[in-house]
Amino acid sequence: METIFSGIQPSGTLTLGNYLGAIKQFVELQDDYDCYFCIVDEHAITVPQDRLKLRQNIKSLAALYLASGINPEKATLFIQSEVPAHTQLGWMLQSIGYVGELERMTQYKDKSKGKEAVSTALLTYPALMAADILLYQTNVVPVGDDQKQHLELTRDLAERFNNRFNDIFTIPEIRIPKVGARIMSLQDPTKKMSKSDENEKGFISMLDDPKKIEKKIKSAVTDSDGIVKYDKENKPGVSNLLTIYSSCTGESIEALEAKYEGKGYGDFKQGVANAVIGVLQPIQEKYAELLESDQLNDILDTGAEKAALTANKTLAKAKKAMGLGRVKKKK
Ligand code: AQP
Repeated sequence: METIFSGIQPSGTLTLGNYLGAIKQFVELQDDYDCYFCIVDEHAITVPQDRLKLRQNIKSLAALYLASGINPEKATLFIQSEVPAHTQLGWMLQSIGYVGELERMTQYKDKSKGKEAVSTALLTYPALMAADILLYQTNVVPVGDDQKQHLELTRDLAERFNNRFNDIFTIPEIRIPKVGARIMSLQDPTKKMSKSDENEKGFISMLDDPKKIEKKIKSAVTDSDGIVKYDKENKPGVSNLLTIYSSCTGESIEALEAKYEGKGYGDFKQGVANAVIGVLQPIQEKYAELLESDQLNDILDTGAEKAALTANKTLAKAKKAMGLGRVKKKK
C-alpha cells in the first residue's frame, strides 16, 4: 500500500479553503493509502503565537480532522512536536539546503513582506516540511495549490540527499484537487483564503455558525455584471463562489451556470451559502461532541506512538548515511 502524508498548521481555526483544498481529499484517500495526517504545530511557531491559543488550536484542529471524517482506525493522526524525529531530520536537511532556494519561496516572501523582525524559522521551515514528508517514505502528498513550490523543494532535497549520501528517501508526488485547489478570499478574490487573514470577512471559518456564513457570503466581493459565469480573469469573485459551490455539492460549474442563468447574484449567493452550510453544519455537530469526550487524547497518543515508530527507522538510516553519531556494536 502506498503512503500519504499531509499536515495542517494550528495557526487559527481552519477555513473553508483548508477544508476544500486539503481535508476533503484526505477523507477520500484514507481507504486506499496508508495515511499520516499531522498537526504541524512547529510550523505554526514560525510566526508569533499566543501559547494558550496555540494549545487550543491544536486540540481544535485534531477534533476538526476527526469531525470531518478522518478515521483513526485507518489513518495515523498525530502532533508534529510529539515526534522529535521531525526536527532532527529537519536540521539535517537544512544542512543540504541553500539559502538562495529558501529565499525564493513565495510564501516566505509574502509572510515576511513589510515585517521588521522575521524569524529564522520562517525562512527554513520548508526544510522541516520536507522532513515531515520524507520520514514516512511518502509516495503522495495531497495539498492545496499554494504548497506546490514547497513540494518541489522537498523533492529536490530528497534527490540531493540520495545522490550525495545513500538512497534513503522515496521521492514524493504532489496531488492537487481538480476543483477547490485554491479558494480565494471573499473580500479580495485575487488573494487566497487564509486562516490568519486580519479581515475576518475574507474567510469562512469551519466553525462559523450558519448566520455568519450567510452574512459573509452575501457581502462577498463580486462585480456589476449580474451574470453567473466562470471567468477567473474578469470575474474572480463570482468564479471563486462558483468553485466553492461546486466543491461543496459536487455539481459541475457548467451545471451551476445553467441553474442561475437569468437570475441575480442574490439568489446565487443564497445557493452558495446553503451549500457551504450543508457541508459545515454536520461537521460542527460532530466537533462539539468530540471536544467534550476523552477520545481525543487517546487517539493522539496512539498516533504519536505509531508515527514515531516509522519516523525513527527512517531517521536512523539517514543519520547513518550522513555519518552522524556512532556505529553501535551489537551486544
Ligand atoms: N485557500 C485555500 N484553498 C485551498 N487549499 C488551501 N490550503 C490552505 N489554504 C487554502 C491548504 O490547506 C492545507 C493546510 O494549510 P496550512 O494550514 O498548513 O498552511 P497554509 O497553506 O499557509 O494555510 P493558511 O490557511 O493560509 O494558513 P496561514 O494563514 O496560517 O498561513 C494545505 O494543504 C494547503 O495547501
